[in-house]
Amino acid sequence: MKAVIEELEQRRANARLGGGQKRIDAQHTRGKLTARERIDLLMDEGSFEEYDMYVEHRCVEFGMEKTKISGDGVVTGWGTINGRTVYVFAKDFTVFGGSLSETHAKKITKIQDMALKNRAPIVGLFDAGGARIQEGVDALGGYGEVFQRNVMASGVIPQISVIMGPCAGGDVYSPAMTDFIFMVRSTSYMFVTGPDVVKAVTNETVTAEELGGAKVHTSKSSVADRAYENDVEVLLQIRRLMDFLPSNNKAGVPVLPTRDSADRLDYSLDTLVPDNANTPYDMRELIAKVSDEGDFFEIQDDFAKNIVIGFARMEGHTVGVVANQPMVLAGVLDSDASRKAARFVRFCDCFEIPIVTFVDVPGFLPGTAQEYGGLIKHGAKLLFAFAEATVPKVTVITRKAYGGAYDVMSSKHIRGDVNYAWPSAEIAVMGAKGAVEIIYRSELGDPEKIAERIKEYERRFANPFVAAERGYIDEVILPRNTRTRVCRALNMLRNKTLENPWKKHDNIPL
Ligand code: HXC
Repeated sequence: MKAVIEELEQRRANARLGGGQKRIDAQHTRGKLTARERIDLLMDEGSFEEYDMYVEHRCVEFGMEKTKISGDGVVTGWGTINGRTVYVFAKDFTVFGGSLSETHAKKITKIQDMALKNRAPIVGLFDAGGARIQEGVDALGGYGEVFQRNVMASGVIPQISVIMGPCAGGDVYSPAMTDFIFMVRSTSYMFVTGPDVVKAVTNETVTAEELGGAKVHTSKSSVADRAYENDVEVLLQIRRLMDFLPSNNKAGVPVLPTRDSADRLDYSLDTLVPDNANTPYDMRELIAKVSDEGDFFEIQDDFAKNIVIGFARMEGHTVGVVANQPMVLAGVLDSDASRKAARFVRFCDCFEIPIVTFVDVPGFLPGTAQEYGGLIKHGAKLLFAFAEATVPKVTVITRKAYGGAYDVMSSKHIRGDVNYAWPSAEIAVMGAKGAVEIIYRSELGDPEKIAERIKEYERRFANPFVAAERGYIDEVILPRNTRTRVCRALNMLRNKTLENPWKKHDNIPL
């Protein structure tokens, strides 16, 4: 028995060495951790159980039968994050560059199947060179199997991807179908085809960083949701994110103990909105002041900054926050902001996370750039997402709610459950000046008359009461009471039951 146990230990030790000490050292020199070091940081200490560490590839092409490495370039298994079960696979760049073979894919799909069957989240850590070139169609088939499982798990269990090195070719599409993508600055990049292929096909000279670095994907393409400085920081943030997420679409949101009372008033909110309607203020301040302990996990903080999205807690329960940001483009809705928020609203709805919406929106952004870019379709995505959502929806209008954007931002008319407004709210078809210039066009030559008309329009519409008189606003609340009122509303809605008509699936304007 002793000999067998020794052999087991020897095999395990070999497998844990992956592609060997030299390649591990090279990984460290680049500022990257190894697959197992990453998993150790991500999971609760000692909780990770590895599967399939002895799996080897079966390729006999290009002399591959002579080079077999236990584990075949990916470390898979499960463990816990703050006590809750999470499945994980981590590409091992020290083994064939983390490239995907038939057997490597089988290891991943086994874990995907377990995660779905047992209804627990799955995290993929990517650091790889795409399809194992020596394997050809076996590798392509392997990717297809992974992709299919991504789709089946979508909306059932949270799927998170972390890009921690190269991520090219087939490797990019699996993350793209997961719920969130995080990147590491300077050491990670994602693209379908790399700089060499780009040069050959388009004659464009570009570096890997310029083509698909963290900056590009968090601020331009919006492929990635956030970027962090290094491996340690990103993994710790994933642990933090997991605490906000339910384990699956039926589990309900996690509830964390909090000392922050729902009755906490914040008098500083009474002066948050400036007297001048055109002066910006930071909507993040409101979010921080109403959330438990000011804790807010922002998603896509570097993209379409005119809308803010992310997770917070109210009385310990996770909520998704969607908020116009008056600091950027006056909080206007454009194509990027609409797409960004629509996807987030749908994530929340999939996983039964209540949505709290803070509104200060002057409308949709006019102009040819927006119209040619499909603003109608993109704006409709957000409208569609809010309208189809059946989770509790609580809305607070702090200032402007103009035009179509009023309807879109979780208004009463698209099944907002509780709709509050601050006394500073202005709910109207458009701003006073624009409105008067249209309806009193014949008086435009008389500035005094126009000024009088603007004042009259403001008196009539620049307030929350016209909407409140019609029941479109349930109550006009004092800003200082916002946390209390939102917490009470969410509590009241805890057992909300609302079903959309049966359908195979909807046809959201993609
Ligand atoms: C087999 C690979 C590999 C691959 C890297 N390696 N990529 N082995 N298949 N796809 C191996 C290398 O041979 C090397 O082995 C080790 O991994 C490290 O690679 P290096 O090139 O030395 O590292 P580095 O300079 O850091 O460059 C990393 C890299 C580069 C940028 C990822 O290796 C690269 O460009 N690889 C090819 C990327 C690619 O085109 N993949 C195919 C995409 S097509 P040794 O033994 O020396 O350590 C695809 C189609 C799928 O994925 C579509 C499905 C929808």
